[in-house]
Amino acid sequence: MRVDVVTIFPDYLAPLQLSLLGRAQRLGLLELHVHDLRGWTGDRHRTVDDTPAGGGAGMVMLPEPWGLALDAVHSGEGPEGPVGGAPSAGRGDEAPGAPGEAVDERPLLLVPSPSGRRLDQAMAHELALEPRLVVACGRYEGIDERVLLDAAQRYRVVPFSLGDYVLNGGEVAALALVEAVGRLLPGVVGNPASLLEESHEQGLLEHPVYTRPPRWRGLDVPEVLLSGHHGQVARWRREEGLRRTARRRPDLLADLLAADPGALGATDLAVLAEEGWTPAGRAAPPASDG
Ligand code: 6GU
Repeated sequence: MRVDVVTIFPDYLAPLQLSLLGRAQRLGLLELHVHDLRGWTGDRHRTVDDTPAGGGAGMVMLPEPWGLALDAVHSGEGPEGPVGGAPSAGRGDEAPGAPGEAVDERPLLLVPSPSGRRLDQAMAHELALEPRLVVACGRYEGIDERVLLDAAQRYRVVPFSLGDYVLNGGEVAALALVEAVGRLLPGVVGNPASLLEESHEQGLLEHPVYTRPPRWRGLDVPEVLLSGHHGQVARWRREEGLRRTARRRPDLLADLLAADPGALGATDLAVLAEEGWTPAGRAAPPASDG
């Protein structure tokens, strides 16, 4: 996958050279290009923002540098010309669409914004199938809206958000996005089985984990985990994942059932009822000990 990030703070993206994603780049699994938006400014001060039309607080990013940047990046160029191999819209080896159905080959333009679509694990999986992503990091009050309208002629524009809070700019969101998507690319995580056991992969939170020593500061590793009984371990983990989800993120349980009414079995529902969660969303009667 090729990812291009346009930002006025290229250094913000430096951590992507570390750890698993750094290795993925050295192995050629991920090709990352970070571009300084100011390379597409024309004035002595390399201006990227101006006051908002209609007045008000803050500054808005100018359309001209963004328009030039998104044109150049679309053709695989940085401010100084071509970078990396020629970007293809597709690798050419994707499964063909339905006969007669036009496949949209425009690359995705991801725009971090608190008013965007919430990034979740399902979206990360969708993005991991793309040959190419471009991320346009805004700062200040945002980018002039015309940039996104114009970009839609050659990109599929997708504003996305990390959650319901406000960041100063899109760089942290770009870091999160590239890490969440990059680790799903084939070969990036050593043991692909570990990907399936994580929180949000089955619509539930993950169970707690332990390692050695078996007793630490008076706290024991749950006995079942030391039993060597794989069936019991699996059942305990399922149960703990369910309990944790009911306590911390009951919204996930409702979503899971809406997507797949058969996702929770009778045993699961009994565990959830102990935590006070029932499918209707009403509190279950307190568990009696009789
Ligand atoms: Cl993607 N951008 C900004 N500026 N703030 C955010 C966000 C993104 N996600 C949550 N807050």
